[in-house]
Parts: sequence; C-alpha cells; structure tokens
Amino acid sequence: MKSINIIGGNTLCGEVSIQGSKNAALPLLAATVLIKGVSVIHNCPRITDIFHMIKILESIGCKVLFTGNCLKVDATDITNTALPEEYAKLMRSSFIFAGALLARKKEVSIHYPGGCVIGKRPIDIHLDAFSKMGAQFVEKNETIYANAKKLTGEEILLSFPSVGATQNIVMASVLAEGNTIIRGAAKEPEVTELCSFLVKAGAKIQGIGTEILKIEGVPCLQEVEYKVVPDRIVAGTYLLAAVATKGAVFLENAPVDHMNSLLLMLKNIGAKIHLEGNNIFINGEGANKSVPYLETEVYPGYPTDLQSPLMAVLSRAEGISVIRENIFENRFRISGQLNRMGAKIFVKDNHALIYGVEKLKGMEVTAEELRGGAALIIAGLMAEGSTKVAGLSYIERGYEDIVRDLKCLGAKIEKG
Ligand code: EPZ
Repeated sequence: MKSINIIGGNTLCGEVSIQGSKNAALPLLAATVLIKGVSVIHNCPRITDIFHMIKILESIGCKVLFTGNCLKVDATDITNTALPEEYAKLMRSSFIFAGALLARKKEVSIHYPGGCVIGKRPIDIHLDAFSKMGAQFVEKNETIYANAKKLTGEEILLSFPSVGATQNIVMASVLAEGNTIIRGAAKEPEVTELCSFLVKAGAKIQGIGTEILKIEGVPCLQEVEYKVVPDRIVAGTYLLAAVATKGAVFLENAPVDHMNSLLLMLKNIGAKIHLEGNNIFINGEGANKSVPYLETEVYPGYPTDLQSPLMAVLSRAEGISVIRENIFENRFRISGQLNRMGAKIFVKDNHALIYGVEKLKGMEVTAEELRGGAALIIAGLMAEGSTKVAGLSYIERGYEDIVRDLKCLGAKIEKG
C-alpha cells in the first residue's frame, strides 16, 4: 500500500494555491452527458476520482481530452448506457451518472453503489425521485437497470437535503417534459455550481442556492465552457494543518465565501485570520483553545468532510472538545488511529469527546478513507518523530498533490 512519510514538528509557513473542487467537478463531468456536443471544464483537479469518471465517460461513448487542468468532453454520441462495474465499484459517486443518462438516453445500468467506511450511504432518495418522474427499476446481481419512456417534471420533496440526490434529480429534470420543483434541496456550493453550469448550457433553473429549486425542462442544452470553483475542503484542510503546527500560511485562490462556518470556528479557537478577496491569511500561533461543542451540519453549517481533520487538531487543544457528527454514521472511525498516536478521543453514538493531550507520537497508521487520511497527515505534522500514513490511494482521490502542497509550506513530508 502506497504511503506518506512525515517527520513532525515543523511549523507550516508560506503560500499555497488551492486546487479545483473534487465535489464540484465530479457532477459537472456527469452533466456533460446531457449535452450533445463539447463541454470544456477548466481548473479540473487531477485526482483519481476524476480519472475514474473519465474512464466511465469514455466507456459510454464520449471522447475526452484532459490536458493540465482543462478537460474537454465530446458527448455527441452516447453509445452505451451500462457503466463498467469495475469503476462503479471503485467509486460510489459514479451513481451521479444515473440522472444524466436517464435524461439523455432514458436508460442506465449501474452497479449498486454500496456504502463505504464512513457510512451505509443509501440511494433511496435518488431512486424515489427518479421513479416519481417515470423511471422503472430492476435490480439484479447488485446492478440497477433503470429506464423510462419519458421523464416528466414533478414536485419532489426530499426527506434529507442529500447533495448527490439533489444533483441527480436536477440532471434528470433539465431535459424532462414539464416543470420539476425540488423542495428540501441541498444548498452546498457543489449543487449551486452544477446548476450554474447547466444554466450556462441553456437549462432553466430558478432558486439556485436555496432549498427550493424550480426546473423547467427544455428540449436540449448547448455546448458550454465552465471553470470549477476552488476546493473548500482542501482549503479547510490546509488551514487546519496551519493551526495544527501553529504556523502562518497564505492560501491563494480559496473559495472564501463557502467557508464561513470553518473560519468562525478557527477564530473561536484563537487563530488570527485575514481575508483579502479570494485569499486567506491565517496565523495559528495562539490557536490552542478547545471547541466546547460543535455539530457537523449540511451547508452552510460546519462540513462533515472537515470533521476528522478538526479532530486531529483538537487532540492537542487545551481542554475538552465535543463534536457531534450529524451526516455520516461512521465518520469518527479514524479516532482509533489517532488514539494510537496518543490522542484521547472517546466516541459514543454520534458524539466524540476529545481530551487535549500534551503531545502525539509518530507511528505507522492507516487511512481507510479520504478525509480520515487527511486527519492522519495533520496528526503526523503535529506528532513527535516520524509517522507513516498508509493508504495514500484514498488521499489521492481528493487531494491533487497534498505532499507537494505541504512540502512547499515547510513540512517534512514524502511519498513512501
Ligand atoms: C457528497 O456525498 C460528497 N461527495 C461527500 O464528500 C460529502 O461528505 C457529502 O456530500 C455531504 O456533504 C461528493 O460530492 C462526491 P449526501 P453524498 O447524499 O452526495 C444520506 C468527500 O470526502 N442519504 O448528502 O453521497 C446519507 O446516507 C465526500 O469528499 C440517504 O439516506 O452525500 C448521508 O447520511 C465524502 N439516502 C446523508 O444523506 C440517499 O438517497 C448525506 O449524504 C442519499 C443520502
């Protein structure tokens, strides 16, 4: 298993530019299927999830060119609607193709996207909405075969503001017959970005950024060029790494407007933050306060994707911190690895109690998922001695080159 080796103790200092957003780019790649022509996507991060999505696009007949961070997708001819099992199994978010293929080809077959270590991650909200819009499903050998004579616009009330379900339903609606209203829609920036991309391609969507999206189906969409927003979770990870090492870091090109809940939390624990347009300067020297109570919430609340990196930082705070995880039932899993490094984290149901300790000890640890891996890297930066984080492949799913970025901030970090 590929790994990352860190020698802890260095204070991060310097400037780093933030990559394009994984969770904004992935739905855009699926949305290119809705367009009978070429879509150009700029600032697309070179991460493994994107490369897997490209394989899927090519497997259904798209021609794809990915040079630097510019991705060109020609979806003029969609010749296949069955996603290759190997990629659907590798990446559960491949289910984001369902809405677009149902809209474009009125059929799709996708291997059932199982859960992962952070939770069961069901897709009932997606399926309920598709069937309301006219799709039928057959499930065989863990594969879902869906088809529809046509997709009709409907009034859809979501039981939970699921990001992926909102995105899938929007993509199923933009070419449907009639109007769709999605009530209780997710408001994450990655939903807003998808809607903006589609509107630029000629879709009719109102209420963007709110929990009520109104979509008027149109006959077709036009070719489009779009730039992916910077990644708020990568930016947040680097701010937390700066605080963890009491460093002074300048983030260039960060999505400041999408980061309020994190910035407020960082200020509350004693970090000094200066915002300048899309740049963030943080001084983490005095940031050692605990967080008496914090809940992860849907946007604009504190993001679940920055929960485990925060847990790593708080493992050395002065006092006791409490985090309640409201989104994924198993997202405290990484606390076991942090405790092996000397942290004192107690998990009960969906709460974590973090008793700040004097120091962490470097050792061999293993990442089992993306953001838990980021948490272990942050812990390694703080720890005495060297830390080997196995499971680099998980981390490369979302971070274009975290070793390059942290090294340029002064970390002693290498790929193993
Ligand atoms: C997206 O996942 C992100 N992934 C996740 O980021 C992120 O943590 C999550 O949104 C929440 O913000 C991508 O964008 C590729 P959800 P998604 O549907 O869409 C339940 C990362 O590290 N649910 O909003 O799968 C579900 O079980 C990843 O970059 C249902 O019950 O998240 C979960 O408890 C991790 N039924 C909650 O909703 C459904 O049909 C939130 O899931 C769908 C979801």
